[in-house]
Amino acid sequence: MGQPLRVGLVGCGSISGQYLATIAKLPQLELVAVGDRDTARADRVAADQGVRALSVSALLANPSVDAVLNLTIPSAHAEVALAAIAAGKIVYGEKPLAATTVEARQIVEAATAADVLIGCAPDTVLGTGIQTARRAVDGGLIGMPVAASATMVTPGHERWHPDPDFYYQPGGGPLLDMGPYYVSALITLLGPVIEVVGMSSRLQAVRTIGSGPRAGQQVPLAIDTHVTGVLRHENGALSTLIMSFDAVGTNSSPIEVHGSLGTLAVPDPNRFSDPVLLRRLGSTDWERQPISAGYVDASRGYGLADLAATPDGQEPRTGGALALHVLDVMESLLTAATEGHTVSVKPLIARPAAMPLTDLTD
Ligand SMILES: NC(=O)c1ccc[n+]([C@@H]2O[C@H](COP(=O)([O-])OP(=O)(O)OC[C@H]3O[C@@H](n4cnc5c(N)ncnc54)[C@H](O)[C@@H]3O)[C@@H](O)[C@H]2O)c1
Repeated sequence: MGQPLRVGLVGCGSISGQYLATIAKLPQLELVAVGDRDTARADRVAADQGVRALSVSALLANPSVDAVLNLTIPSAHAEVALAAIAAGKIVYGEKPLAATTVEARQIVEAATAADVLIGCAPDTVLGTGIQTARRAVDGGLIGMPVAASATMVTPGHERWHPDPDFYYQPGGGPLLDMGPYYVSALITLLGPVIEVVGMSSRLQAVRTIGSGPRAGQQVPLAIDTHVTGVLRHENGALSTLIMSFDAVGTNSSPIEVHGSLGTLAVPDPNRFSDPVLLRRLGSTDWERQPISAGYVDASRGYGLADLAATPDGQEPRTGGALALHVLDVMESLLTAATEGHTVSVKPLIARPAAMPLTDLTD
């Protein structure tokens, strides 16, 4: 292995702890600086990690930063990513790539023009759960894929997140917040999407914060909180989505993929390594599949290490083009829901490359 990738982290909020733990674990990554518009937050994380807290502009200008890890809120993703690309840095960010497809396209175009690598969460699709399922599909274990379902329901993140406002503003909502895990997994399993339909609704006019210093405060809603739709993949398979912040729970498998010879129960695409089950035609048993592909014991941030190791000339497995397509699919579904008609999507990507079974800590 060569020198570790020197990482400057921007956005020291709730999710940053999981990335910091991964950076500490992986020899491929080294934290060199942190920044946040809330400087007290950045100072606390910097002291804890033994690195410098810098203003965002100073972090982007710092020559010892190779890559910017953008963990800001969705409405800030584009601003930070574009500034980092302009500074010539590799950029890997939290999902969605941007709050809108228009902004996401600007990021991809700017990165291409500057010849800078960009990538985006979710990297859960690189874990052993989704990659083992993909290998089963590619290996013909379910025969010809016909359809999939993806179900994510929760009564809402405001019950546990101390600053949940962004979940209820444009760029948030159940589809844009949780859809990236499910849509990225469906594209990994079944390939790009060419057409969508959708419908959406909302149960409540405001949400009430359930924890932290703002507990009891009400958050206004600018978006629908229950979203359903169907995606037509390029290979003809149809995926049905239910994404909700308005429902209590579900007993469904997070994703199921149905084929002519079997059905796969695919684990939660917001996690890395849960088991995959296969039910074959003519059997009532659900057989646990041996782990056969993906990063072993992965956690948030593996996508950045994978991005940095992408061979020249190849599209990263969690690259900007995939994240743009995922956002385009989700936004088109919301347009279909609002306007009441089918919306065509230009795939513009190939199905991401499959992962061999890999342990980055070896
Ligand atoms: N919280 C989770 O469990 C979770 C899980 C997976 C993914 N995510 C994603 O991670 C991202 C961040 O979520 P979070 O829950 O950590 O949010 P958060 O509000 O807890 O933290 C975001 C941080 O970014 C900082 N910030 C915002 N705009 C900025 C800007 N322009 N420049 C510099 N700093 C800025 C804020 O001050 C804050 O410290 C979101 O895209 C979210 O979808 C969150």
